[in-house]
Amino acid sequence: MHGLWGRRKAAAAAVAAEHCMAFSTATAGRAVMLPRFGGPEVLEVRSSVGVPDLKPQEVLVRARAVSVNPLDLRMRSGYGRSIFEPLLPLILGRDISGEVVAFGSSVSSLVAGQEVFGALHPTAVRGTYADYAILSEEELSVKPSSISHVDASAVPFAALTAWRALKCTARISEGQRLLVLGGGGAVGLAAIQLAVASGCTVSTTCGSKSIELALDVGATEAIDYKTEDIQVAIKGQFDAVLDTIGVPETERVGINLLKKGGHYMTLQGESAAFADRYGLAIGLPAATAILLKKKLQYQYTHGIEYEWVYMRADAEGLDAVRRLLEAGKMKIPVEKTFSIAEVRQAHEAKEKRLIPGKVVLELD
Ligand SMILES: NC(=O)c1ccc[n+]([C@@H]2O[C@H](COP(=O)([O-])OP(=O)(O)OC[C@H]3O[C@@H](n4cnc5c(N)ncnc54)[C@H](OP(=O)(O)O)[C@@H]3O)[C@@H](O)[C@H]2O)c1
Repeated sequence: MHGLWGRRKAAAAAVAAEHCMAFSTATAGRAVMLPRFGGPEVLEVRSSVGVPDLKPQEVLVRARAVSVNPLDLRMRSGYGRSIFEPLLPLILGRDISGEVVAFGSSVSSLVAGQEVFGALHPTAVRGTYADYAILSEEELSVKPSSISHVDASAVPFAALTAWRALKCTARISEGQRLLVLGGGGAVGLAAIQLAVASGCTVSTTCGSKSIELALDVGATEAIDYKTEDIQVAIKGQFDAVLDTIGVPETERVGINLLKKGGHYMTLQGESAAFADRYGLAIGLPAATAILLKKKLQYQYTHGIEYEWVYMRADAEGLDAVRRLLEAGKMKIPVEKTFSIAEVRQAHEAKEKRLIPGKVVLELD
């Protein structure tokens, strides 16, 4: 029995090694490089960018679709320069959907040719705007066959940000009330759907064009923040508030609508901005001090928990997102696709807010 099992394992390892060897001939491919910070015009599509060797836990993915996140635009214009400037040129992009090409020696859950989707950590230097992207095994999951690469690529970074806030920070549970400020964006829509799937009731604010969509994905009420006074329109108190906008006005309203002991979570934490302004050595401790001061202040004045939330790779979260996608309980509509060669136009369209929803780059 033991011998048979051992032979099977050895055979599986040989097959895996063969796949790995057979497909790892991809040594270079197209990539969108950021040689310096600036507007969309600084982006360069290079045709033959080398693919580094894989570390044991890494997976080489042939990208078919990569979505454009606000972080990509911000990084392009210099956000996070305290970390990224010494590492230029870098490749932008967090989200991906594609096929496994090769994998490192410790990868056990994926095989070559498998369709996968996932997202890189916010500080990754070699991004996904490339024919061949490298992600760790825990940053990837099997793509549901019911959805396209384009639709799959729109989800992970936003959904894992929402997961981090709702499941890891506020730890929402059935029967609770959640307020999402900015529910029409990708993170907001993902948060609404995660919360509804967890048995919560969700109220949200969004622009008029997103109201129908927010209600369609499960929000109980959707208030147009441009035409209504949110604090008057939204009744009752909430167990958690996710503020995707994070300006002083939304922070004030969000905190005032929380129950005692509730969580206010903003996506606009100031760690990177402080590090950019004052350097890592002074900026990061200064940001931590400001966060601590706010936490103590709001604990004292309102009895609530104040948090800065950042996206993190999370294998459990990604698996939960995959199951929601499979069950048809999670969707982030894609408004428009561009080819990778049109990356500058895609960034320009998002920057000038010409396209309201999600934009995806396709790689043939
Ligand atoms: N901390 C992190 O790790 C993290 C991770 C992901 C995203 N983020 C940040 O979170 C924000 C949202 O990301 P996203 O991917 O969801 O962006 P997105 O898809 O571009 O959506 C942004 C949405 O915000 C809405 N909006 C703007 N001002 C608003 C207001 N005052 N009240 C309500 N809604 C408002 C816009 O709606 P209208 O067009 O209708 O106005 C738009 O739908 C971005 O700033 C992004 O940089 C942070």
